[in-house]
Amino acid sequence: MKALTLLLLAAAAQAETTPTLKDAFRGMFRIGAAVNQAQFEVRDPRGVPIIAAQFNTISPENVLKWESVHPRRDGYNFDPADRYVAFGETNKMFIIGHCLVWHSQTPRWVFEDADGKPLTRDALLERMHDHIRTVVGRYKGRIAGWDVVNEALNEDGTMRQSPWHRILGDDFIMKAFQFAHEADPQAELYYNDYNLENEPKRKAAVELIRRLKAAGAFITAVGLQGHDKMDWPTLEQQSATIDAFAALGVKVNITELDVDVLPRTQRQNTADVSATAAGTAASNPYPVGLPDEVQQALAKRYADLFRVFINHRDTITRITFWGVTDGDSWLNNFPTRGRTNYPLLFDRQGKPKPAFDAVIQTARQK
Ligand code: GLA
Repeated sequence: MKALTLLLLAAAAQAETTPTLKDAFRGMFRIGAAVNQAQFEVRDPRGVPIIAAQFNTISPENVLKWESVHPRRDGYNFDPADRYVAFGETNKMFIIGHCLVWHSQTPRWVFEDADGKPLTRDALLERMHDHIRTVVGRYKGRIAGWDVVNEALNEDGTMRQSPWHRILGDDFIMKAFQFAHEADPQAELYYNDYNLENEPKRKAAVELIRRLKAAGAFITAVGLQGHDKMDWPTLEQQSATIDAFAALGVKVNITELDVDVLPRTQRQNTADVSATAAGTAASNPYPVGLPDEVQQALAKRYADLFRVFINHRDTITRITFWGVTDGDSWLNNFPTRGRTNYPLLFDRQGKPKPAFDAVIQTARQK
């Protein structure tokens, strides 16, 4: 606890002397980061002061995914998630739950009976209900918003053929929202996905949200993951996507923001976490540092994106980065393992990058 107090004091001192993200955007949107276990257990002396100083909302990188929180048919594993929530409360943050129903990082047993046969629709619905009631119920009034369903759509706008969809059909999404709302009627509920900036997938998501609302689902916002590239999405795509959801009367959150500066490799244009390719020297051009021109281009890219977000500040309520420092990012291992990537606002030493300053500047120019 003493170490924690010292870290928080250091963070507070830093916050007094330098501008912070959460203050720069106060009144526009919350600014957050996905935090890993070492961070919320206060074992990361580099990351924790940054989190405490800069962000007013957190998301859990892994500990609330099904395989972590509910690894066995007969057992939940709440200890890490409890510490995640306690960390958010200590720092007075808006705490996000991620995620209840997803095809990935979900154990195979979820979809099978004791003999390994596919569950019936009724049995899977009961299992989903039990999971959502137990997890959302445990953190009722403490976790403020939940990613209820993650990534239900394919790139062409058809429904992803996940085990959820195969066994339950299209209404698995509606059911998940119903169960989540029952478990905590005050919690914000979100549909979260990637590549919604691409038209076929966006159109399908708009239809999906329209249907959910028409059927009476309590849905607060659509989460655009925001796993961006230097040249994708275009600012027009970004803007049109936010507008398309705003027109339905839902809010938009940017939920997993990062900008990949490395060359595309095989299967790059997807955030599907199952897609990885082998690395080559050409695919990892900056192993010892980012050249200044790329650093500046990244700063400009971030500023361009934030200008679009600021223009849509009536619709956007939260912008969350997927990680704190470049060293923490999943993009060092995706879609190619063992690369050195630079997708966030803080470098491997925890120092703010030119992109940080550029983002802060956008708030001042609004
Ligand atoms: C997806 C998921 C996140 C995370 C990221 C990358 O976008 O929603 O939980 O796994 O991929 O790490």
